[in-house]
Amino acid sequence: MATPHRGSPYCLLLLLVVASVAAESQPDEAELLLQIKRAWSDPPALAAWSAAGAHCQWPYVGCDSAGRVTKLTLVDINITGTIPDAIGRLYSLTHLDVSNNSIAGVFPMALYGCRSLRYLNLSYNHIRGELPDDIGDNLGAKLSTLDLSFNEFNGTIPATMYMLQKLRCLWLNNNHLTGTIPVDLGKLASLKMLWLANNPFDAGKLPASFKNLTNLANLYVSNCSLVGDFPSYLVTMSELEVLSIDDNSLTGTIPSGIWGLRNLVVLSVSNNNLTGDVVVHSFTAMSLIIIDVGENKLTGIIPEIFGYLENLTYMYLYDNNFSGKLPPELGRHSLGLSHVEVDFNELTGTIPEGLCTGGNLQYFTASSNRLNGSIPLDLANCATLQDLVLSNNQLSGDVPQALWRMGRLTHVVLENNNLTGSLPAIMSSNLSTLRIGTNQFVGRIPAEAVGLRYFKADNNQFSGEIPANLGYGMPLLDTLSLANNNLSGRIY
Ligand SMILES: *[C@@H]1O[C@H](CO)[C@@H](O)[C@H](O)[C@H]1NC(C)=O
Ligand SMILES: *[C@@H]1O[C@H](CO)[C@@H](O)[C@H](O)[C@H]1NC(C)=O
Ligand SMILES: *[C@@H]1O[C@H](CO)[C@@H](O)[C@H](O)[C@H]1NC(C)=O
Ligand SMILES: *[C@@H]1O[C@H](CO)[C@@H](O)[C@H](O)[C@H]1NC(C)=O
Ligand SMILES: *[C@@H]1O[C@H](CO)[C@@H](O)[C@H](O)[C@H]1NC(C)=O
Ligand SMILES: *[C@@H]1O[C@H](CO)[C@@H](O)[C@H](O)[C@H]1NC(C)=O
Ligand SMILES: *[C@@H]1O[C@H](CO)[C@@H](O)[C@H](O)[C@H]1NC(C)=O
Ligand SMILES: *[C@@H]1O[C@H](CO)[C@@H](O)[C@H](O)[C@H]1NC(C)=O
Ligand SMILES: *[C@@H]1O[C@H](CO)[C@@H](O)[C@H](O)[C@H]1NC(C)=O
Ligand SMILES: *[C@@H]1O[C@H](CO)[C@@H](O)[C@H](O)[C@H]1NC(C)=O
Ligand SMILES: *[C@@H]1O[C@H](CO)[C@@H](O)[C@H](O)[C@H]1NC(C)=O
Ligand SMILES: *[C@@H]1O[C@H](CO)[C@@H](O)[C@H](O)[C@H]1NC(C)=O
Repeated sequence: MATPHRGSPYCLLLLLVVASVAAESQPDEAELLLQIKRAWSDPPALAAWSAAGAHCQWPYVGCDSAGRVTKLTLVDINITGTIPDAIGRLYSLTHLDVSNNSIAGVFPMALYGCRSLRYLNLSYNHIRGELPDDIGDNLGAKLSTLDLSFNEFNGTIPATMYMLQKLRCLWLNNNHLTGTIPVDLGKLASLKMLWLANNPFDAGKLPASFKNLTNLANLYVSNCSLVGDFPSYLVTMSELEVLSIDDNSLTGTIPSGIWGLRNLVVLSVSNNNLTGDVVVHSFTAMSLIIIDVGENKLTGIIPEIFGYLENLTYMYLYDNNFSGKLPPELGRHSLGLSHVEVDFNELTGTIPEGLCTGGNLQYFTASSNRLNGSIPLDLANCATLQDLVLSNNQLSGDVPQALWRMGRLTHVVLENNNLTGSLPAIMSSNLSTLRIGTNQFVGRIPAEAVGLRYFKADNNQFSGEIPANLGYGMPLLDTLSLANNNLSGRIY
């Protein structure tokens, strides 16, 4: 008991009565916490949990004003072992987060005892086995967040899951779940986030019942063995901010209504079998940051409006059959633009002038298209550029000397064009791949490129002596090809 202090006897009496009522209705929570600590073999992180202290002051423990344990936040503190049954007798627990530890065992049904639970995060552990069939009617009717992601759960998603009617956030991604996605999940009308990605489900469609999930802001169903046409009802989910449905086997076209989702920030549909043109009727998705439609069979021209999206940062259109030009305004209005990857299409015309306007471009890759014209000065002067890959096009003209002064450049691949120009004697130390074969470069081979590992410059018009000390100037070099130039001398 607490040390005696002066106070009205009436209050003291009342306190004793309250205390004894509490003691009857719930176990000694300090003792429960100590049991939990012992079950986990006294991990160093819980050293401060000792019989002496008031348990509400212990680290990772939160209590309500009545001194009942409501929160346990035991994240990333090297816990091993299973979830002890004692946790299920912390009857007032509303928030349990044991994510990112090394917890093993199966789903802890002891948690059915925590009737007030609102937030449960077991993610990033090694919990395995099937989820219990009765999880939905027992896991607490108040539960609003359930994160079981990054574990080893197998078997099917229990059909009762839909009974957790307060769920706003359901994360089951990155497990070993099989079977099909239950139709009844469409009854979880409060859901804002539904993450099911990266599970080996049976091939199946995204259930049509999901059209009732009108509050969804975040749908992450990548790599879920989805088949059938692109689910057209997604265009009616007006709250949608993140739609990741990549790495499935969806067919059909991207419904034009997708571009009318005004809150959309991420659209990722890459690596499916989508066909047809990217048709835009009414474009209101002006907040897009990521457009990833790569690795499909899309045709037609790239909508020019992509060039006017102020927050566009990543644009991946590679491995499709897009034709026409890159949007001429690309980069001029998207000052954060950092990745533009459009390789393996049928694009024609020139490289837009303003790609690096915001000074953030890191990757511009457009190999295997039919681009012509020259490399724009704005691109060559782009200090943030790391990867420039333009091989297999019809580019011509001098490569601006400025390009070779860009210190962050790591990979430059310009093979199979009609480019001219020369290389400086000393190349930037970050440059590790330089592939400029089959062009019309002239002048001498650089003497120094201390980071260079891969140097291919065959089929050009380089001349003069190969520097005698090439091995010193390029100490990391492991692939070198200088065939079909006008070089003389020897390589040591
Ligand atoms: C967990 O283990 C790592 C590596 O042994 C250690 O650096 C870290 O401090 C530990 N964390 C806690 C909270 O004990
Ligand atoms: C669960 O914990 C992980 C790791 O600590 C965290 O990244 C994740 O955001 C949490 N999940 C939810 C739904 O809050
Ligand atoms: C998990 O903890 C490790 C350090 O122990 C950290 O590097 C990692 O980012 C954490 N993962 C998540 C998802 O929070
Ligand atoms: C789930 O994994 C356990 C082993 O952790 C195994 O015994 C069980 O058969 C698996 N269940 C399914 C449905 O694959
Ligand atoms: C896709 O999911 C499978 C399990 O179904 C997993 O093994 C694989 O790593 C996932 N792929 C990616 C890219 O995450
Ligand atoms: C959507 O919800 C309505 C009303 O709750 C219900 O009648 C309908 O069957 C649901 N649709 C689907 C496809 O589940
Ligand atoms: C696309 O379809 C082809 C031919 O049917 C198939 O071989 C391929 O695996 C499919 N790709 C995806 C990502 O589903
Ligand atoms: C772009 O991002 C900024 C900062 O997050 C935000 O204030 C602005 O509204 C966004 N623009 C659009 C069109 O969504
Ligand atoms: C791409 O389009 C061209 C015609 O423009 C066609 O010949 C070719 O077969 C298409 N490729 C694919 C993969 O659809
Ligand atoms: C690029 O090719 C088109 C035909 O596809 C041609 O009209 C145009 O003049 C060419 N531009 C340059 C700069 O070579
Ligand atoms: C380079 O130009 C020559 C003539 O100027 C042309 O015959 C050749 O096809 C061009 N090569 C490429 C890869 O565009
Ligand atoms: C090499 O790249 C790093 C990281 O991008 C950058 O911080 C550094 O300044 C670069 N080195 C030179 C010589 O520019």
